Amino acid sequence: MYRNKTCGELRLEDKGKEVTIAGWVQKNRKMGGMNFLDLRDRYGVTQVVFNSSENPDLFHDANSLGREYVMQISGKVEERENKNKNIPTGDIEIIADSLKILNKSEVPPFTIEDNSDGGDDLRMKYRYLDLRRPGVRKNLELRHKMAFEIRRYLDSKGFLEIETPILVKSTPEGARDFVVPSRMNPGEFYALPQSPQLFKQLLMVSGFDRYFQIAKCFRDEDLRADRQPEFTQIDCEMSFVQQEDVIDMFEGLVKHIFKYVKNIDFTEPFPRLTWKEAMEKYGSDKPDIRFGMEFVEITDLAKGKGFSVVDDAEIVVGITVPGAANYTRKQIDELTEFVKRPQVGAKGLIWVKIEADGSVKSSVGKFYTEDQLKEWAHKMGAKPGDMMLIMTGEAMKTRKQLNELRLEMGNRLGLRDKNVFAPLWVIDFPLFEWDEETQRYYAMHHPFTSPNPDDIPKLRTDTGNVRATAYDIVVNGNELGGGSIRIHDPELQNEMFSLLGFTPEKAKEQFGFLMDAFRYGAPPHGGLALGFDRFVSILAGLDSIRDVIAFPKNNSGRDVMNESPSPLDPEQLVELNLEIKTPSKDK
Ligand code: AMO
Repeated sequence: MYRNKTCGELRLEDKGKEVTIAGWVQKNRKMGGMNFLDLRDRYGVTQVVFNSSENPDLFHDANSLGREYVMQISGKVEERENKNKNIPTGDIEIIADSLKILNKSEVPPFTIEDNSDGGDDLRMKYRYLDLRRPGVRKNLELRHKMAFEIRRYLDSKGFLEIETPILVKSTPEGARDFVVPSRMNPGEFYALPQSPQLFKQLLMVSGFDRYFQIAKCFRDEDLRADRQPEFTQIDCEMSFVQQEDVIDMFEGLVKHIFKYVKNIDFTEPFPRLTWKEAMEKYGSDKPDIRFGMEFVEITDLAKGKGFSVVDDAEIVVGITVPGAANYTRKQIDELTEFVKRPQVGAKGLIWVKIEADGSVKSSVGKFYTEDQLKEWAHKMGAKPGDMMLIMTGEAMKTRKQLNELRLEMGNRLGLRDKNVFAPLWVIDFPLFEWDEETQRYYAMHHPFTSPNPDDIPKLRTDTGNVRATAYDIVVNGNELGGGSIRIHDPELQNEMFSLLGFTPEKAKEQFGFLMDAFRYGAPPHGGLALGFDRFVSILAGLDSIRDVIAFPKNNSGRDVMNESPSPLDPEQLVELNLEIKTPSKDK
């Protein structure tokens, strides 16, 4: 027997018990004739005391124990004189009567505590030690609890969890694929799935009716705080459903998980915005609606007064920042610099302050009278004490830039509280997205998304304005999930491929199996996928999904712990029929 108690469970009620615990040395402090050792395991930390006057040999042995030694310690539970209110075991300590070193440890490269002295890179290199820190461990515990409850919930609604392959066929849409060479089929490659999309549709054709999978997905795309090259989706599909059925089902799941993890009751239906409204009000298809500062267009009011920045612009649009009339010149300059950063890309910023006494100060006094600026204020709902921040230019671009500024102001004013959650649905996405570079349309969601039935007649005549039956669920400015009702009619699917520039041959080569399947009675179907890593990190109040993944990659897609990706052995290359032209490391 290694232990009969964990390091997290002893309380005052256990006083007097003889116990054995096992774990890692968190701290070892010698104070006079006493030695205080904190022993840690997954469940907590317990203080162990060695007393030189009572047991000099044991006291001597305890002195030599280094951090992260793996120990087995037996002793008697006693009430502590100096109680530690910060930990659940803080009322007691164990007076040791024996110790055994189960394993020694080298001095770890950083302190294994929540406020570690190790930087990001070092902690990633020694991720197995980083994972010993309580904060990181709690994130993974939450992830486990959520996965478990999601499975339970979906099972209760009749969903079957079905695994789909990881070695699949490469498809040209979406992000770049990760590919895997086939030894048995020289010159041929599998792709890793970007999502189980086609398989889940096939499962609907097979009659499974309700499918889900907590599925690993792989995308070779530029990484950010909310993106990893391999990530996990709660992937779902249902038959005989319309948009409303899917939204209803997964709003139920999201509400259930909020209640389960955070004890938050969302009693009202989640608000909905059409994509167009979201872009016009927030300049984003994933708006953070925890705070207002909605966009107001003042194009008509502002144009025609001889200010070329405005006169040459497609739109003039702004936000009203409450209470910001006291912003100093320096603070406003900072905001101007912010919007000029390459990541935002604006040329400049117009500001108009309504002072407490109602007078107006602005950066555009040369072109507009005080009365004209007061008209802006009226339209934008700016009151004495507020400041309007206004941008101009091409409509979509300017809205996206103003979105960045709005989020920045939300941060500066502390309006993006991590303990406040504001979910919503964004619906009516456009079906297509025009790409200037390749001069063609792309599917905004994916090529299997059904057009809004009302817009089918416009498919060829007004392609850019056709709405999709697609929906995203957004929480606090993050795209938590997205899905759509699928096309189940082979003719409409062919039309879609043709609009996306696929020849019938190319479409057959890429998606022939799906088209074949649709010839044998495909039910109407639709679904969605929630980003599981994002879901956990939002509920844990974290900024990066890396913190909820046991072994994540860094921003260059590398695992610095196992040093992957790495070159292949020459023999492996021969076996795979591969030749490397330029070793990527020398590039
Ligand atoms: P979509 O591409 O919108 O839809 O992905 C669904 C959700 O997955 C999460 N996600 C990511 N999370 C971490 N890192 C990434 N690189 C990453 N990419 C996406 C997001 C996103 O909302 N097959 C469709 C779903 C469907 O139509 O049913 C799909 O994959 O939270």
